Amino acid sequence: MTHAIVAGQAGGPEVLSYVPVERPVPGPGQLLIQVAAAGVNFIDTYKRSGVYKVQYPFTPGSEAAGTVVGLGAGVTAFAEGDRIATAEGADCYAGFALVDEDKALPVPEGLDDATAAALPLQGLTAHYLINSTFKVEAGHNVLLHAGAGGVGLLLIQLLKAKGARVITTVSTDGKEALALGAGADHVLRYDGFGKAVRDLTDGKGVDVVYDGVGKDTFDDSLSALRVRGTLALFGAASGPVPPVDPQRLNAGGSLFLTRPTMAHYLQDARERRWRSDEIFAAAADGSLKVRIGARYPLAAARQAHEDLEGRRTTGKVLLVP
Ligand SMILES: NC(=O)c1ccc[n+]([C@@H]2O[C@H](COP(=O)([O-])OP(=O)(O)OC[C@H]3O[C@@H](n4cnc5c(N)ncnc54)[C@H](OP(=O)(O)O)[C@@H]3O)[C@@H](O)[C@H]2O)c1
Repeated sequence: MTHAIVAGQAGGPEVLSYVPVERPVPGPGQLLIQVAAAGVNFIDTYKRSGVYKVQYPFTPGSEAAGTVVGLGAGVTAFAEGDRIATAEGADCYAGFALVDEDKALPVPEGLDDATAAALPLQGLTAHYLINSTFKVEAGHNVLLHAGAGGVGLLLIQLLKAKGARVITTVSTDGKEALALGAGADHVLRYDGFGKAVRDLTDGKGVDVVYDGVGKDTFDDSLSALRVRGTLALFGAASGPVPPVDPQRLNAGGSLFLTRPTMAHYLQDARERRWRSDEIFAAAADGSLKVRIGARYPLAAARQAHEDLEGRRTTGKVLLVP
């Protein structure tokens, strides 16, 4: 017997319960891992609340790190005792979880379990956003929102390593200090950020905006772009963006709008390996700092969701079984 978090229906954090469950049994091509830590991501809250459609009862969590303790038929690439992490798991808010062999990332020597659990989903996201959604180069002006968040702190560091000029938004002085510490060149509040960005770029606007806030920032994000700039709308922490009139992109300067999601940037083993090798190597050699802002016992998943949605967290949020 072990424990997992279960949402019996769509709703607020109060639908999350800590319940006893059977230990899962690995099917063909699957690994059973003992979860050392599970990552909490904003997408978990969309699935819990019903913004994204899932079947209930539902156990959140697509990110974890742990030790392989069981192998399904046909598994060849891993053995019991290996340490792995994943950004593409399911039911990871649990003591034990199943991971498809092809979605398991070997954890390099020297990377601790908490960092291995904290990095995959937000790290792979930051990687694809700046290398593939819009290829950032030295000298580009970049705006990203929620700079002290999980994705935000990683994005700032990876963008600075490419030689970009980084402008970010945050809601508090404490978050501002974190964003500056990660290397941001300019840290703004949300109020009037479109105009502030224009002022910082001689009236031109930035080459790209990475917007995971959504509803509250969307229109001002478009107004912060240069002619033919790109808005990568990659999330909706403040709520979903209403339908957009394409004419708005014309008026803004022949703008590009994309709504990327991680699965489409992890199309095959080569792509998964390229991105995960780079982010794990950067974390292992210390050039990419992974801030774990909060760790909760698994049983306190409800509190973790309340704090994430209440903008009280910074960096990565982990659950520890
Ligand atoms: N498309 C993808 O592949 C992908 C993958 C991973 C994550 N994401 C998205 O990336 C975004 C960031 O995810 P994360 O897990 O790293 O979360 P996070 O940034 O650690 O937390 C969300 C942050 O958004 C900001 N925010 C602004 N308005 C908000 C509001 N009304 N309610 C709540 N938060 C608000 C808050 O920072 P301030 O207080 O500083 O504003 C908050 O801390 C989310 O939208 C998530 O869905 C997308």
